Amino acid sequence: MCGIVGASAQREVAPILLEGLRRLEYRGYDSAGMALVDHGRIERTRAVGKVAALAERLGEHNPGTLGIAHTRWATHGGVNEANAHPHVSNGRVAVVHNGIIENHEALRSRLRDAGYQFDSETDTEVVAHLIDSYRADGSSLAEAVRRAVAELHGAYALAVVAADDPETLVATRRGSPLVLGVGIGEHFVASDVAALLPVTRRFVYLEEGDMVTLTPDYFEVTDADGRVLDRPVQESVLSIEATEKGAYRHFMLKEIHEQPRALTDTWQGRLSDNNVLASSIGPEAEALLARVEAVHIVACGTSSHAGMVARYWIEAEARLPCNVELASEYRYRDPVVPRNCLFVTLSQSGETADTLAALRYAKSLGEGAGYLATLAICNKPETSLTRESDLIMMTRAGPEIGVASTKAFTTQLMCLRMLTAMIGRGPDRAERVVGDIRGVGSAVERVLELDSAISHLAEHFVDKQHALFLGRGPMYPIAMEGALKLKEISYLHAEAYAAGELKHGPLALVDEDMPVVAVAPNNEWLEKVKSNLQEVRARGGKLYVFADENSGLETEPGITVLDMPHVPDTVAPIAYTIPLQLLAYHVAVAKGTDVDQPRNLAKSVTVE
Ligand code: AGP
Repeated sequence: MCGIVGASAQREVAPILLEGLRRLEYRGYDSAGMALVDHGRIERTRAVGKVAALAERLGEHNPGTLGIAHTRWATHGGVNEANAHPHVSNGRVAVVHNGIIENHEALRSRLRDAGYQFDSETDTEVVAHLIDSYRADGSSLAEAVRRAVAELHGAYALAVVAADDPETLVATRRGSPLVLGVGIGEHFVASDVAALLPVTRRFVYLEEGDMVTLTPDYFEVTDADGRVLDRPVQESVLSIEATEKGAYRHFMLKEIHEQPRALTDTWQGRLSDNNVLASSIGPEAEALLARVEAVHIVACGTSSHAGMVARYWIEAEARLPCNVELASEYRYRDPVVPRNCLFVTLSQSGETADTLAALRYAKSLGEGAGYLATLAICNKPETSLTRESDLIMMTRAGPEIGVASTKAFTTQLMCLRMLTAMIGRGPDRAERVVGDIRGVGSAVERVLELDSAISHLAEHFVDKQHALFLGRGPMYPIAMEGALKLKEISYLHAEAYAAGELKHGPLALVDEDMPVVAVAPNNEWLEKVKSNLQEVRARGGKLYVFADENSGLETEPGITVLDMPHVPDTVAPIAYTIPLQLLAYHVAVAKGTDVDQPRNLAKSVTVE
């Protein structure tokens, strides 16, 4: 989704803004732009495509100690220079925006009647003109922004500068993320702390409705009515290296290889010798979780697959009814909520608009409707999701930059594994699970040794158009996750089926041009999976199976088997995700796609 960077400093800000945009590239975008205030003029530069294209257009020297910059992910209007941000009103006010202004049409026609001309098809341009219209009566920039946002419906993070105010930047948010960076003799705003790590480690996380006015040596956070708010300045513990590729060719590969560490970090401090500590997610958690009688899990995309795995665990082990649903569907269908229902959201970014909307829906109905408490399992600290939930369990995967979610997913599974034990009623099982959890990091390290074998396997997929993924039980959502990864970064059409469902339709698709990938741990479903694989082989399908080393499955004509180290059943979904991530990665590399920033996609989906 769109990325925002802004700065007011005592030095030229163009290099800071450009580096900030580069560090936001992972969010997904299709054009970029910058506006600098210099000698009473707004100098705007925009380019379709990568930030590198903007940098080329900007050239060497770009004077201005105040500026805003943006990467755009198109929503209203096509991908072209006229629609790229910043949008400028009459050379006087420049605006960058992340989000969607829902009432832009009504505002546009009002502003047209007032004589404003529109140069783009975007919803954002109305904001620039609206602010400019309020400045006409002598309002300060901050006052004009405040009056303008009072009229906006929808979601926004905005950063605004004016030609006649050479030091002031005004920024505000509602529904889209924004942080303030605190420097010495300079202040910044950005969609994400990662953008500002080269210039500061001190941040104020702006909350819903906050507005910040900043100059090089001053900042003030106010609410919608202009009342001054006291928001804490927090030191970020993120290292610059954590947000860089290092020796890896792609962020995705780095993040795949970070999983042993990330998984271990996620359980550290949350286990005793024989149990998972509910108290590790807050002092009130133990009492609250003891009352849980049902669970609703809501998420999007990859995160929803983690929820689907957890349903198998929670129902089989904790013996509690568990409903898992896509966030974009949940709140629109009036779900029946059982008594004492724990409402769980899963999100890497903590800013996914659909997930956030579902959380707000559940909170608006509250205990009267059956909701006992809300729990966010989230990878990013200080997000809308974590701020608005009763309980928080952080996934501790570290920054995930590749658009394709990898370590965030497996650490979500780790959290859900622990949550199952926390709400379960059987201590015996918990004791075994604790041992399994402690062993996951080293099991995943062994799976990663398959990297080069999987890169060879990937060659079989490069000239294919489609692929099927099969799994049973908790491996069915893992197959779904494998198919999503392949689709997302290699643009190959892939679908996942519960292996038992194959004969009810999709078997008709199987021929020698349809690779079929299966995950087969040594569990209660293994023999059934083997029968399903025979159904594929008998129809000439080409099978690629990741199977437990003791499964008895062997490579022979029509079936290629890659042996997986034996892992306990309780954590097998985590281990079996890894080869599917590697497969998608190597197919994408072989096809030459943009692995970290696949076309049309955004890392953090902040619009509904
Ligand atoms: C994962 O590879 C995807 N890019 C996407 O499905 C993602 O998981 C989804 O948009 C949810 O994001 P979240 O975890 O940040 O809420």
